Amino acid sequence: MKLKELKLLNFRNYKEQYLEFNPGVNIFIGDNGSGKTNILEAIYILSLTKSSRYGTDLDLIRYDEASLSIDCLVNYDDYEKKYKITIDKFTKRVFINGNPVKKISDYVGKFSVTSFLPNDIEIIKGSPSIRRNLLNIQIGVLYNNYLNYVNEYNKILHIRNEYLKRLNINGLSDTKYLDVINDKMIDISVKIYYYRFFYIKEINQILPSIYKKLSGISDIKIEYQNNLGITDYDENTIREILHKKYKKNLYKEMMQGMTLFGLHRDDLVFLANKMDAKIYSSQGQQRLIVIAYKIAELLVFKKIKKEYPVLILDDVFSEIDIKRRNNIVKFFKDDIQVVITTTDLEEIQPDLVKNAKVFKIKNGEIKIKGGAKWKKKK
Ligand SMILES: Nc1ncnc2c1ncn2[C@@H]1O[C@H](COP(=O)(O)OP(=O)(O)O)[C@@H](O)[C@H]1O
Ligand SMILES: [Mg+2]
Repeated sequence: MKLKELKLLNFRNYKEQYLEFNPGVNIFIGDNGSGKTNILEAIYILSLTKSSRYGTDLDLIRYDEASLSIDCLVNYDDYEKKYKITIDKFTKRVFINGNPVKKISDYVGKFSVTSFLPNDIEIIKGSPSIRRNLLNIQIGVLYNNYLNYVNEYNKILHIRNEYLKRLNINGLSDTKYLDVINDKMIDISVKIYYYRFFYIKEINQILPSIYKKLSGISDIKIEYQNNLGITDYDENTIREILHKKYKKNLYKEMMQGMTLFGLHRDDLVFLANKMDAKIYSSQGQQRLIVIAYKIAELLVFKKIKKEYPVLILDDVFSEIDIKRRNNIVKFFKDDIQVVITTTDLEEIQPDLVKNAKVFKIKNGEIKIKGGAKWKKKK
């Protein structure tokens, strides 16, 4: 899939901006603060309905304006589709081909991006919730149902926690209702575990060879840390362990008023040379591991969806040496569309610049150079 057109209205520093993209490489160049990341952010939001940056939806609206809209036209092999998001102080709405879409899970996953962003390093350094969130997004983009499962799990989890608190206050008497909740939790858990184990296995199958091409080292893997202590998916085992955990820890969970076991406490650990990269790898190594992971994400997406997502790279080459930049760029095949930002064109591989469409941002204005023609529809 390829992004063909983008239209911004009162989004961040853009009042009204229309852009036509290159099917291949697109480069946004400009000084710091000129609005490069804002463009990638808009593309990201069109894909996932949420920003990759901190802040609320209202921060996205241009100062002194009441609402924003972001529109795009996406080109697939034999058809095109329009995606749109509007935000005002009351609501956020999403549209496909002009029709409002009510459920986010019916929207997400149709126009997809793989992003390389400066604070992606948090995937290694940050809290477990960042990694759970990452997993949820990536699996959710591939399998729509998965997002519904996660929402359902969170709802039941909330109910369970509230009920545990009430049991504690009222004194333990009737736990029949808790049994019902537990059964529901377990039913939905096995579905989510299934996808998580599957996805992590897919990533682990290709991560070592990718990392080797980037760094020369192949001893890398993700370990799926779950408090069930299991290393592979097995429905019956998971059901059994969860039943036991809930039963055995009822008193503890009641006292704390929360569910202490289950997939809301999962984590991923990146093991480089069998050591936790969070603790033992240098900043440079961590960055490279994250890039390898992202390339794995891209390739798993391609394997399952039979097409590439749009690749967005926010100023990621500046902290990587030239040799490694070359190694990274080798993964970007001809049929991948790339949108890159940089303050300095020198940082981008000449190979990429050669056929690129270059967008120069200065004083809120975008000047364009180069760019290939779009193929005519069959
Ligand atoms: N809601 C907003 N309204 C208007 N301008 C905004 C808004 N949010 C951010 N900006 C402006 O966007 C600019 C930052 O854009 P950004 O894309 O992050 O720059 P960079 O080119 O460094 O990536 C800043 O000048 C900031 O003032
Ligand atoms: Mg930026």
